Amino acid sequence: MIYLDNAATSWPKPEETLEAMDLFLRYKGGNPGRGGHSMALEAEKTVEETRLPIARLFNIPDKERVIFTLNCTDALNIGLKGFLKPGQHVLTDCIGHNSMVRPLRKLESQGVKVTKIKPSAEDGALTPSDIEKNITSDTKLLAVTHASNVTGVVQPVQEYGDIAKKHGLVFMVDAAQTAGMYPIDIQESNIDLLSLPGHKGLLGPPGTGVLYVGDRVDLDTLREGGTGVYSEQEEQPHTFPYGYESGTLNTVGIAGLGAGVKFILIYIKGRSGENFLP
Ligand SMILES: Cc1ncc(COP(=O)(O)O)c(C=O)c1O
Repeated sequence: MIYLDNAATSWPKPEETLEAMDLFLRYKGGNPGRGGHSMALEAEKTVEETRLPIARLFNIPDKERVIFTLNCTDALNIGLKGFLKPGQHVLTDCIGHNSMVRPLRKLESQGVKVTKIKPSAEDGALTPSDIEKNITSDTKLLAVTHASNVTGVVQPVQEYGDIAKKHGLVFMVDAAQTAGMYPIDIQESNIDLLSLPGHKGLLGPPGTGVLYVGDRVDLDTLREGGTGVYSEQEEQPHTFPYGYESGTLNTVGIAGLGAGVKFILIYIKGRSGENFLP
């Protein structure tokens, strides 16, 4: 079988991904943070040990800022809707996937101002000067697609990050098509919100995704519920990461995602295991 649909979801997954999921369901399948028995603790360890290699791959200084989501669409929704408020302005590109376009359209109907900047005719990417021209006093967010799933254009996110930093904007990158394939350094590129699918280049299973949230972002929750922390309080805790992961996590998927990311770090980046051990 020759599989050519890796931009939709990667296949086959490494043996390590399959083995980690098998091992998890057989021996570790408790509910993390919801009990003190050995399987719940093993599940918690698996989840926490998956945040670390993800943080290493993207140079994220604090692994607690790595939130597990259902997919990249979920991560985009949590980031965009959790951050933007009516009256605020967001700058974006015209090459976004519907998972960027539609949440923004919904926010626009609720009073968020959205400006879509046309890509340059020369290289199909946003021109930095066009971004700067469109910044207003209400602009709070620059949200761009790293690589288009339609045209294949890879945008220079480091240049955009410099602009965002210069103007005090929060910078969001949809890295659905680049995570695990292209180097992404959130510190070098000043990225505050990074949305990732776990099931494409990160070699995890479907049903996994990640949102990185930097400490400059004040993020509201989209979903409230059980968190495994502060259970005595009725109000949703805004504690990273649990406050943004309400409900039982896709623990078996996260186990597979952790193995996929470690596979990339070891075999592709040539990192030693010590780099992502606690
Ligand atoms: C650029 C881009 N963003 C977001 C997504 C959505 O990813 P997911 O299917 O994980 O929600 C895709 C999916 O192909 C994509 O190509």
